[in-house]
Amino acid sequence: MKDPEVQKNRKVSFDINEHILNRWSPRSFSGEEIADGDLFSLFEAARWAPSSYNNQPWRFIYAKRNSEHWSHLFDLLGDFNKQWCDKASALAVIVARKTFEHNGQPSFTHQFDAGAAWENLAIQATSQGLATHAMAGFDYDKARKVLEVPDEYEVMAMIAIGRKGPKERLSPELQQREVPTDRKPLGEILMLGKFGNSAGT
Ligand SMILES: Cc1cc2nc3c(=O)[nH]c(=O)nc-3n(C[C@H](O)[C@H](O)[C@H](O)COP(=O)(O)O)c2cc1C
Repeated sequence: MKDPEVQKNRKVSFDINEHILNRWSPRSFSGEEIADGDLFSLFEAARWAPSSYNNQPWRFIYAKRNSEHWSHLFDLLGDFNKQWCDKASALAVIVARKTFEHNGQPSFTHQFDAGAAWENLAIQATSQGLATHAMAGFDYDKARKVLEVPDEYEVMAMIAIGRKGPKERLSPELQQREVPTDRKPLGEILMLGKFGNSAGT
């Protein structure tokens, strides 16, 4: 079933799984508590992402709203993100191990692998009626210190997790942006055989 906002704003060229299309990044969250079981299913989904050598470089440091850990993550955010993140049910920082566990060599795909895990998490959330919003707008150096991230891990992103709230709660500027975004046409990103060759889509 398509979210009505998605129905209005997103058109696919070819059929896809509905949860992929229904996933978008709202800024209005309801402020509800999230049960551990619901939250942990998201990280369970992330756990099953593929990775180079099955190295599983992703790690998630989370905090639920109204918990003692919340401010450690929330205080890292930039002012723009702080203005809407305060109603998220949980925040999580994704960090990725830069080396392979089996030989200590650098992994050139740790970011790619962590990205796959994040997307699994986001699609799982959509399937549970929850929303996620990834963020790069926070202090990465401070995150490393405050969250005691070891040197062999790189801080990737922060995610807000919760149930979508009414957009009227947002400032007029943010209300305007509270809409599922569009994408480049498939013909611009798909190439047959060589960079720049049209795939005829
Ligand atoms: C790695 C990453 C960092 C992002 N950083 C921010 C951010 O700091 N603040 C924000 O409001 N949105 C942020 N976004 C949300 C993107 O703007 C959003 O995903 C993009 O416009 C596509 O829209 P959609 O997720 O609703 O489909 C980020 C998304 C990603 C994946």
